[in-house]
Amino acid sequence: MRLVNWKDEYSVGIKTIDDEHRELIETINRLHEELDSPDRKRTVPGFFKRLMVEIKTHFAHEEEFMREHDYKGYIAHKQDHDLLLDELSDIMEAFQRSVEVDSVDLSMRLDGWFFRHFHHYDTQLHQALGPD
Ligand SMILES: [Fe+2]
Ligand SMILES: [Fe+2]
Repeated sequence: MRLVNWKDEYSVGIKTIDDEHRELIETINRLHEELDSPDRKRTVPGFFKRLMVEIKTHFAHEEEFMREHDYKGYIAHKQDHDLLLDELSDIMEAFQRSVEVDSVDLSMRLDGWFFRHFHHYDTQLHQALGPD
């Protein structure tokens, strides 16, 4: 199940950040696919780990970019990054604990997890600091 496709309107106009968002969407899509596979108990933990590494790297880049530009929304944006890391840990744990995996529920949580932040905080960042 491919859940999310990259759209040009997602671009924040900053190349490294756009490239990372594109990669994150790819990883989330792979994770959605793996959640449906019969072998998921074996394959999914690796994808969660990969997503965790990618998202931490991405947040570090975004935060550095905001600090460099004295972005006024920095604190709220960073707080939401920290919250997202906690939420991803919770989703990972829910998967690991479950005997019967509810892949639809996990997929929806994963999707909401990324896009809630992306459509709000990253869009504001683009409006403040991105190219016209
Ligand atoms: Fe962000
Ligand atoms: Fe982002």
